[in-house]
Amino acid sequence: MPRSRLFPSLTLGVRPAKTTIFRWLYDELRRAILDRRLRAGEKLPSTRGLAKQYQVARGTVVAVFEQLAAEGYIEPRRGSGATVKRTLPEKYSEVSSPLMRGTVRPSAAFLSPRGLRFVRATLPVSQTPVRSAFQTDQPALDLFPTALWGRIASRCLRGAQRSLLASGQALGYLPLREALADYLRSVRGIKCSHEAIVITSGTQHSLDLISRLILDQGDCVWMEDPGYPRAASLFRALGAKVVALPVDSEGLDCAAGRGRARRARLAYVTPAHQFPLGVTMSISRRLELLRWAQSGNSWIFEDDYDGEFRFASRPLAALQSLDESGCVIYASSFSKMMFPTLRLGYMVVPQRLIEPIAAARSLIDLFPPVLDQAVMCEFITEGHFGRHLRRMREIYARRLEVLQSAASVKLDGLLQLTSTRAGLQAIGWLHRSIRAEDAELAASARGINVVPLSRFAIERPTRNGLMLGFAMADERILRQGVEELARVLRSLKNQPPGRRA
Ligand SMILES: Cc1ncc(COP(=O)(O)O)c(C=O)c1O
Repeated sequence: MPRSRLFPSLTLGVRPAKTTIFRWLYDELRRAILDRRLRAGEKLPSTRGLAKQYQVARGTVVAVFEQLAAEGYIEPRRGSGATVKRTLPEKYSEVSSPLMRGTVRPSAAFLSPRGLRFVRATLPVSQTPVRSAFQTDQPALDLFPTALWGRIASRCLRGAQRSLLASGQALGYLPLREALADYLRSVRGIKCSHEAIVITSGTQHSLDLISRLILDQGDCVWMEDPGYPRAASLFRALGAKVVALPVDSEGLDCAAGRGRARRARLAYVTPAHQFPLGVTMSISRRLELLRWAQSGNSWIFEDDYDGEFRFASRPLAALQSLDESGCVIYASSFSKMMFPTLRLGYMVVPQRLIEPIAAARSLIDLFPPVLDQAVMCEFITEGHFGRHLRRMREIYARRLEVLQSAASVKLDGLLQLTSTRAGLQAIGWLHRSIRAEDAELAASARGINVVPLSRFAIERPTRNGLMLGFAMADERILRQGVEELARVLRSLKNQPPGRRA
């Protein structure tokens, strides 16, 4: 039988000299999965069929399948076959192109120094998430009212005037800016008129626009450490110098910042709910940060990435509302409140930045997609947005409660969750004998995603801990996830040190 009929999506390369059959088969199958020649969910042939096709011992194929299953690439099926996993072990699945994998070196000959910095600073973009227990970074997408969104979208399109199809406004769709100003004033206590609101394609885009306008190569930027890697990488790619500052129970250590780079141009902070530790910046720190920015003519970028999801208390006033000298740029995003692929966000900017942003935009992206903004605007003004957020807040609060109560029993002595009252993820400190990176690997082999805190280290090592998302999966999956995680952590705790990965 011809090979292509047996295993149509795969042709294995020739076995290199001095490579064992196991190593060759393992490498070829893993590479085929990473390169998507074998797609997520695709059924692999039986071990017997594969052994026959490539004339190798069946025991070797079984051993390769077991290895790939243990590492989280494939899911064994009853019998002897397997399917490719929908979520691959993170550190591999994120890295998709040969350039990003580092197997091809970018050449200075075809890229500018800035281009090279972008390639070197690149970060993976989340793959399609699975509904596994602790998936981070994602809201509960199955509960988003897509049918309602679809009805509003088709109504907007059917009734679209020619102007809606012809052009857009550099600062964003005016009715959406007005609706957001109303919402921010009445619900969030943020002082602004619609004139100060700029619609963007999400916070990353907001950061890029602002950085291009206020940062030059060599400028210093204060960052929280641990902090948001995508912000740090962007600053570095643009040629800025990231000054990583510790975070304590009151938030960013401003005194350390003044000691290391008093004249920094910008401070990037997450005061409402520090990313990733979850600390709320104290009022005295907020005032200290503002005084520093005002005295040195510096800027503050306030990233309010999950401010809508507070479960216990009302948030402290935004830094933006304490700012009297116009140095704070407040940014928020619809990625978590709605869904990440919407790619819509907004900023509230000081008056002196409005014109420069409009000018810069005329050379960068002109304006964000108008139809999406019109749909978002209707969603807000018809009251769906407020309703959706209230519903999700209740659901997430309940899921957090389930996680906390299950963890307090099952993870006792293994992982100590910190007290979380906001956001979509929780942090836990591991027993000292369990390394976070080992826990990630062992958990992913059992289909559970947990993220070591070291992933968010900007400069200094982080405490040994894990981030667990609790928004995406329902209560049953969360409870099962806690039990499975307990098994994984217990087995790591009981392993003699020499045998740990
Ligand atoms: C700290 C932080 N800021 C901002 C965002 C949202 O970014 P964007 O609007 O670009 O999706 C996220 C999303 O994960 C985040 O974790």
